[in-house]
This record gives sequence, C-alpha cells and structure tokens, in this order.
Amino acid sequence: METTLSIVKPDGTSKNVIGEVIGRFEKNGIKVVGLRMIHMSISQAEGFYYVHRERPFFGSLTEFMSSGPCVVMALQGEGAIAKVRGIMGATNPDEAEEGTIRKDFADNIEHNIVHGSDSQESADYELNYFFNSLQIFG
Ligand code: CMP
Repeated sequence: METTLSIVKPDGTSKNVIGEVIGRFEKNGIKVVGLRMIHMSISQAEGFYYVHRERPFFGSLTEFMSSGPCVVMALQGEGAIAKVRGIMGATNPDEAEEGTIRKDFADNIEHNIVHGSDSQESADYELNYFFNSLQIFG
C-alpha cells in the first residue's frame, strides 16, 4: 500500500475539472485519504518544486502554480505512485495516451492540469509539505 500526493493545478480548478480528476482516481481504485484547497505564494511554490530550481522553466512554473487555487490530495492504493502517474498521462499532453487526464484536459507541458509524486522519496516530501499526520486518514 502506497500513499502519494496529487495536485489539481490552477488550470484544473479554473477549468472546473476538480471532480473529474478525483473521479478518475477513484474509478481506478485509488482512495482519497486527505484533501485541501490552497492558494500558494510564489515562495511556497518554490519550496514545493525545490528539486527543479535549476531548470529553465522554474520561474514560470512557480508563477503559474501560485496564480490561482489548487486542490492538494493524499491518495492511497496498491502501487499508488505509479498508478496515479499512469492515470494522469505523460507530463507533455502531446505525448499522453488516450483516456488520460492530461490528454483530455491539458493545454501544454506547463499547464498540464495535475501533478503526481514521481517516487516514494518525492511522495514523502510532498505529502509532508501540505499535510500533517492528523490530516491524512489512511
Ligand atoms: P509536474 O508533474 O507538476 O512536475 C514538474 C512540472 O514542471 C511539470 O509537471 C510541468 O508542469 C513542468 N514542466 C516540466 N517540464 C517542463 C518544460 N520543459 N517546460 C515547462 N514546464 C515544464
């Protein structure tokens, strides 16, 4: 059993697809065990995406992530880290498979609707970034 962190990004909340994203996880056997709506400051987004701080897109990514509200979720299930990433589809929607969240809703590689932790190490950091142990019910 794994617990991972997912975010409906500001483009997802403004496109009104919060329920659609959560529904796709739930229909695939993933359980929501923590949920909050937040609006990150630039510095909070920078802390969240710290591993990407040297990337050329870091400034634009953190600006985008602090441009509106996000829904952050703790998700649990067998092999949840890889499963959630499969349901989301490739980072670049042009490369995402049919039926994935990003194929269906994302505009481009930056405005790609949803985030999911890419490893156990990332999941631990990212879950702790937004939730304390009393806010996760799994
Ligand atoms: P996410 O899964 O949230 O992890 C890091 C994010 O950086 C990624 O989704 C994209 O939104 C963004 N990203 C990754 N590569 C690029 C890129 N080449 N240009 C712009 N944004 C990117």
